[in-house]
Amino acid sequence: MEWWNDAVVYQVYLRSFADSNGDGIGDLAGLRTRLGDLAALGVDALWLNPCFASPQRDHGYDISDYFSIDPDYGTVDELETLVESAHELGLRVLLDMVANHCSDQHEWFREAITAGAGSAARERFLFRDGRGAHGELPPNNWQSVFGGPAWTRVVEPDGRLGQWYFHAFDASQPDFDWRHPEVADHFDRVLRFWFDRGVDGFRIDVAHGLVKSAELADWPGADDGTGGHNYDMWDQPEVHEVYRRWRRIGDGYAPDPKYFVGEIWVPSVESLADYLGPEQLHQAFGFDLLVQPWNADRMRAAVDRGLGQSARTATPPAWTLANHDVHRTVTRYGQAQDLSAPVPSDMIAAARRHGPADLELGVRRARAAAMLLLALPGTSYLYQGEELGLPEVVDLPRDARQDPIWVRSGGAELGRDGCRVPLPWSADAASFGFSPAGAALPWLPQPAWFGDFAADTQQHDPSSTLSLYRELLHSRRALFAPSEPLLWLASDNPELLVFARGSAICAVNFGERDAALPLADDARVLVRSTSGRDIPGTTLPANSAVWLTTATGPEHHGLRPTTEDALAR
Ligand code: GLC
Ligand code: CA
Repeated sequence: MEWWNDAVVYQVYLRSFADSNGDGIGDLAGLRTRLGDLAALGVDALWLNPCFASPQRDHGYDISDYFSIDPDYGTVDELETLVESAHELGLRVLLDMVANHCSDQHEWFREAITAGAGSAARERFLFRDGRGAHGELPPNNWQSVFGGPAWTRVVEPDGRLGQWYFHAFDASQPDFDWRHPEVADHFDRVLRFWFDRGVDGFRIDVAHGLVKSAELADWPGADDGTGGHNYDMWDQPEVHEVYRRWRRIGDGYAPDPKYFVGEIWVPSVESLADYLGPEQLHQAFGFDLLVQPWNADRMRAAVDRGLGQSARTATPPAWTLANHDVHRTVTRYGQAQDLSAPVPSDMIAAARRHGPADLELGVRRARAAAMLLLALPGTSYLYQGEELGLPEVVDLPRDARQDPIWVRSGGAELGRDGCRVPLPWSADAASFGFSPAGAALPWLPQPAWFGDFAADTQQHDPSSTLSLYRELLHSRRALFAPSEPLLWLASDNPELLVFARGSAICAVNFGERDAALPLADDARVLVRSTSGRDIPGTTLPANSAVWLTTATGPEHHGLRPTTEDALAR
């Protein structure tokens, strides 16, 4: 079995993880000093958000040099040392591959600007003449994911306004033209460069976006300003050739082949399958689970779709509940739950809704959700700070916000800064231990209440969220053996989700009332998401979860496999 088959991958938002040199920005050396904490937490691998040279307009998703590390974060040598130290602790390291676009400061793009219309340098990007009598209108009606038109007009070398270039995201992020052979060659070299330095694989940024329809014609559909619905802009058949090519490169490192996981937003879980399998990507994130509200039926359906897709493609699912692009689970689950079905174009936006949150409720649900996630078969991705139960920082001062979503929407959208606030390590230290003493202020301000979530206080509190995560990560593999399939168990309570994997059971109560679990005498409760009160063995409190084992198997209890499952197996 490959290492990633049932791994827990911890997502490091490097800028906000740990700052070693006191400039208020997290860095590779800071991460290296904390590797022991991550190993002790029990994760198997790390995924680092982009740390390559970048003007940081979209915090690393705007790369100016794919072969160097941003000086804010360290050097290529430090990256190599980090990978070595991680490997010594048994942790794999994944980097983030941003191949859809680069920075407007990348040498290719600067060359394209100065070389002018019709030059070979422009062909590596999507430059087009504008429409209208004087080319004053964008070449088509496509919208940027970050709001506003997806085209920006350039000033030509003669000082006049001229062509437009396409950017699916911010204007500082010009899209490559993946139909140009030099683009593909460049990324082959990028992959090999980092693989040769020990990196174990890549998370692929907007993996469904690299190739656009050749015509770049107007999109006839309604324009909701997110660009997410425009399937001329995304998910073109030619993109699969890119992944076949990358897979051959990664497989060339056998007996320890490199791994790829895609960030892919397509209209259905079924169409994700086109990207997966032995010739393309190993996995794609299961965002379907992330976008579901706190609701038993909806969560179960998402798990079923993920498992179905996994069976069809013979690839284990890659589940996740949070990342650097969405609001934190504590806040999302503490808000009023929207049970209307999310449409693909606003799925991500739905995970960044404004609105009052009951954080105490949110914490209870987020802890239970973590138990659901970590009991599922396959790989789980954990976003840094989730193990501390951090809420979203919704009250950042306006002038502190930096996300281009906030900027491009004129403040109408809060954007993603609130889940990227530097981590609190120690309750009593300056900047909560994120930076050394006497350092500059963190790049995003930490609210005063962040100290309540500091890792050092949670460390020794058995009822803390950090202790719960540690317990889950350490017992997960022994309990839920990777080879054990998921079997749903029927209960009379529609708010209860119960499944078995082998002799272990995970039960989640999505309801607002305590539920009774029909359990036989031999059932042994191993982990509960709630603590602090004496709970009888058969009671599952509202908004909580439990892991338990049973020597006799689930059938011995009042629980029986649901009919569909019984038929399927
Ligand atoms: C992905 C990243 C996001 C970034 C965008 C543009 O969605 O996760 O953080 O802003 O791509 O690269
Ligand atoms: Ca630093």
